[in-house]
Amino acid sequence: MSFRKVPSWPARCRVWLPLLAVALLAACGGPFPQSTLIPKGDFARMVDEVFLTTVKWAVLVFVLVEGALLYAIFRFRGKPGDPRPEQTHGNTTVEVIWTVIPAAILAFIAVPTVRTIFRTEEIPAGAMEIEVIGHQWWWEFRYPEQKVVTANEMHVPAGRTVVVKIRTADVLHSFWVPQFGAKRDAFPGRYTHFWFTTDSLGSFTGQCAEFCGMQHGRMGSLVVVQTPQDFAQWVAIQQAGSPLVNNGVVAAAALADSSLKAPAAPVDSVMIKGQQEFMATGCIGCHAMVGTPTAGVLAFQGPNLSHVGSRQRLAAGMLENTPENLALWLRDPQKVKAGSLMKLPQPLTEAQISVLVAYLRAHQ
Ligand code: CUA
Repeated sequence: MSFRKVPSWPARCRVWLPLLAVALLAACGGPFPQSTLIPKGDFARMVDEVFLTTVKWAVLVFVLVEGALLYAIFRFRGKPGDPRPEQTHGNTTVEVIWTVIPAAILAFIAVPTVRTIFRTEEIPAGAMEIEVIGHQWWWEFRYPEQKVVTANEMHVPAGRTVVVKIRTADVLHSFWVPQFGAKRDAFPGRYTHFWFTTDSLGSFTGQCAEFCGMQHGRMGSLVVVQTPQDFAQWVAIQQAGSPLVNNGVVAAAALADSSLKAPAAPVDSVMIKGQQEFMATGCIGCHAMVGTPTAGVLAFQGPNLSHVGSRQRLAAGMLENTPENLALWLRDPQKVKAGSLMKLPQPLTEAQISVLVAYLRAHQ
């Protein structure tokens, strides 16, 4: 009779530990575009400080408790022939100690936590307001001060405090851009808010954080932090065709003021043909668009497309904004994002798609 040799513990570890280490290290690869551990604004840094304070206390408690446990296991382990240990019940001194120590630790965690909650509730004076409206499944951003309406990509100037006021147009959503700190639910008929100031230029991704239906996982957002000059330029461009500016009429003064060109008047064939298709194929039923009668309409089911060509991504963060992806989206939006409100009354022909792609991409 033969026995299979059972590997000893060290032999097993030689196989499993390296595999475990590789699996764990794989999580350190980065980049971490949505890590709350890399705060990029004042609000996020305050939250991070509270988190780190709590972690430090938790580590201390863990080390002391597990240390005491291991010490007891080895120091008092039973040996053959030991007498039955002494049986005790209740020890007032020990009970007082193990009540007072956790209470003190909780106080050290509670004080900074409550202080931070109050600090983050106070909106700093002079903050720039942005209204965030959740839709199934995209985000609308309105800038009452700048009179701009846009979708999915929120531009903010570095160095200025932004207060984000959040609500929903349909079901519950939650606006969350992890590197700016707060996650706030979007309710119908009331606003939640948070604020942040950042000096980090660049684009930061966010994600809807409340289950809101089939495409909840594809309800992304982008915060684009620009220098104040670049932001002012972006605002001047966006004001053309904005439903908040003189019923959509181009803010002539703003455009004359800047070094920017006014959006191309529909004189070239791309614009003329595109606009005809945009109206004829029904796009106009759901989307506001500069140069069309819908430019001045604020309440719409779909994103304002007046500057869609300038956005980095399509379909709430799903696709890179390229001509190929725009054509893919127009060809069969339900195949790209099933359940989306983007439904075509009838399929577009390839000729119509190429005209519309050129038209939409021209709207920078
Ligand atoms: Cu919107 Cu989940």
